Parts: sequence; structure tokens; C-alpha cells
Amino acid sequence: MVKTRVEKLCTDPEIYIIRVDDDEIKYFEAAWYIPEGITYNAYLVKLDGANVLVDLTKADYTDLFLEELKKLVDPKEITHVILNHTEPDHSGALPAFLEANGHRAQLIGTAFARNLVEGFYGKEAVKNFKVVKDGEELSIGGKTFRFITIPWVHWPDSMITYLVEDKIIFGCDAGGGYSIPETIDDSDEEVVKRYLPYVTKYIVTVIGHYHKYIVQSINKLKKLGIVEEAKMILPGHGLAWCKNPKRIFEFYERVGAGVPEKDKVLVIYDSMYGFVERRMKIVIDELKKLGKKPVVYRFTDKEAPAVSDILGEVPSAEALVIGASTYEAEIHPTIRYALLEILDKANYEKPVLIVGAYGWGGVAGRKIETLITRSKFDHVATIESKGMPTEEDEAKLREAVRKLVEWSS
Ligand code: FEO
Repeated sequence: MVKTRVEKLCTDPEIYIIRVDDDEIKYFEAAWYIPEGITYNAYLVKLDGANVLVDLTKADYTDLFLEELKKLVDPKEITHVILNHTEPDHSGALPAFLEANGHRAQLIGTAFARNLVEGFYGKEAVKNFKVVKDGEELSIGGKTFRFITIPWVHWPDSMITYLVEDKIIFGCDAGGGYSIPETIDDSDEEVVKRYLPYVTKYIVTVIGHYHKYIVQSINKLKKLGIVEEAKMILPGHGLAWCKNPKRIFEFYERVGAGVPEKDKVLVIYDSMYGFVERRMKIVIDELKKLGKKPVVYRFTDKEAPAVSDILGEVPSAEALVIGASTYEAEIHPTIRYALLEILDKANYEKPVLIVGAYGWGGVAGRKIETLITRSKFDHVATIESKGMPTEEDEAKLREAVRKLVEWSS
């Protein structure tokens, strides 16, 4: 059941988190399988003569959200709504909020955000919209709010809001992750350790297509000095970072750059009748002999891993091995889908070994090779052969694995 959690994060200034814990969602953006769920975080900043709402929640949970908001403040007394990013997981409740607010609040966002709000919710919603530029500051309730654009993290409208005197960053998508953490903030290291893989999965599936902009944006914020000095980083999903705030942006930077974990090799393959699998067993055996740690995802007639989980493994891999059957003169459909998503969402400079098996004509290996050579990945070798692997095939596979390992070290 979807629940809400509300907590006061600090007293001076008074800041509350209103977190909607969505455990009913199955596919984020109707695409990414997330049985772990997600949270949508909004923040209320109560100041002298002003109440500022930072982002909202998904339309489905508007009633739950307004119910909690009303316990903290009369919605009519909200003076400003900051829209760091207008994707409807954060802005869906806006029309109902504006009605409850009597359209008194001034909305604040980038020019792109204004455009999107008008498109999503109509002209009425943007009647009182203040467009802010990169670096612009507004004085609200005795505090300075600085707006810093971070385009493509996640949409062109995206910005963060920096509460200057208190050194607090409101990041929306920047700093977010999947799952419903047990705690509100990062004070429990065990919770953080369990949570971080869901951050990687979130980054790659949602923002991965723009991952170079993650690195650029974090660098921009670092140069401004605000990552180092931040006392809190409060994202629109997942944990609030109050104990070690810069950790989450440094983590984002590493995922954006695809910094590998030592010895991790991602192995993905399909096997309809065991011919690819026989080859992959040789590959995995050779990888282990060379001290590597293969992480294996396989599609068979008994299992089909979620592509969203595979995507979450790519940034931290040193190298990839992709195994595929030829299927109707194409790449097997499961690997084709997984590969196209990897190339779109997790396109990193990492070495790739391709392994193929076929019955009467090898096509999959060649087609994967074409896709890989057109991407940022480095093509190491393609070893493709017919039916059961021969001794000669085995020798070629082991040699190709040695080449892959050399390439990645
Ligand atoms: Fe969480 Fe891009 O929205």
C-alpha cells in the first residue's frame, strides 16, 4: 500500500520532507521494472512570512500528499512553489495543489520548466510563473534561494535550488535513487549500502542516456564550491543526505563516468538449447582463472532477468561479454533488446567480447559487432561458430578472454 512519511529535517530553517512511498509501481516510466518501488520527495521550507514548497508528487498520490501538507500548513499559505524539474512524478499534483492554494503561490523554474508546465497543465497553471536563469538568486522569507541549471539531469528543464545561508541543495532527480529506504536520511550505513545499487540502477535507466551531463553538472556544482560545503542534499527520490551529503554527488559522478569496480566483468547471454551456454561456461571459467569476478545474467527457457537490473551493472563493469544465438537471421530477441538499451542508456568506453552460436548460419555475432563498433564500447573480438563448441572453438574463446582481460587492465 502506498504510504506517506513526513519528518522535520531541521529546525532553523524549518524544513520538512513529505515522502510518498510507492510500492505499487511496477515499471517506472512504463519501462523500467522496479519491484523495489520508489519514493517521491517534496520539501516544505517554512520561513518568516513565506512558505516554500520544493517540488510535489505524482498525480496518483495527490490526495495523500495534500492531506500531509495540510497537517503542516494551510495550502493557501504556500507563497512559492519551486519546480526543479517538471517530469510528472514531481509535478503531477500541481493542478490540484494550485486549486487548494487558490492560485496564490508564485511558481519558480527555468524557461523550459514554464513551457512544460503549460503543456502539461494548461495556461492557468503558468499565470504566476517566475522564470529564473542559471545562477539567479531570489530573496524569499529572509533567505537567499539560488537556482543553478543542470540541463539533462534529467530533462532540459532541470535545475537545483541552493539555500545559500544554510548550504542546503534541493536536487530533485539529481541525487535520487530507486527503492523505499527504511530511513529518511543517510544516518544508517547499512541502509545506505543496500540503497546505493538502486541509485546506480536509477541513474542508468532514467538519466543514463545523458550520462556525460551528469559528470559535467557535478563538476559545475563542484567548481561553485557548493558540493563541498553542502550541509544537506535533498533529492526528489530516495534518501535525504544529511550526514555525508557530498557522498551522493560523488557517487553520481562515478556512475556518470562509468568508473569500474576492480575485476568485475559483466556477462550477458541467451541460450535456447545450451549451445551458447557451453561457450559461456568456458568464458566464465577462463575469467575466473584470470582472477576476474564475472557477474552473470542469462536468458533461458527458465529465466529472464530484468533489463533494468542489467543496465544497473554496466557502469561499474571493467569489461563486458555478450553471448547470443542467431535467431531468424537476427540477434536473439532478448539479447537484442538488452543490447539496444545498453547502447542507449549505458554507452561507455569499455571493452566487449562477443560470443555467438548458430545452427545453419551465423548472423548474431556480426550484427552485435556492427552495433558495438558504432558505439563508445571497444570491440575486442567476435568468436562465433556452429552448434556444439569444438576444441578449436574452446581455444579461441580462452584466447579471446585473455585479450579482453589484457584490454581492460
Ligand atoms: Fe524523477 Fe525525471 O523525474
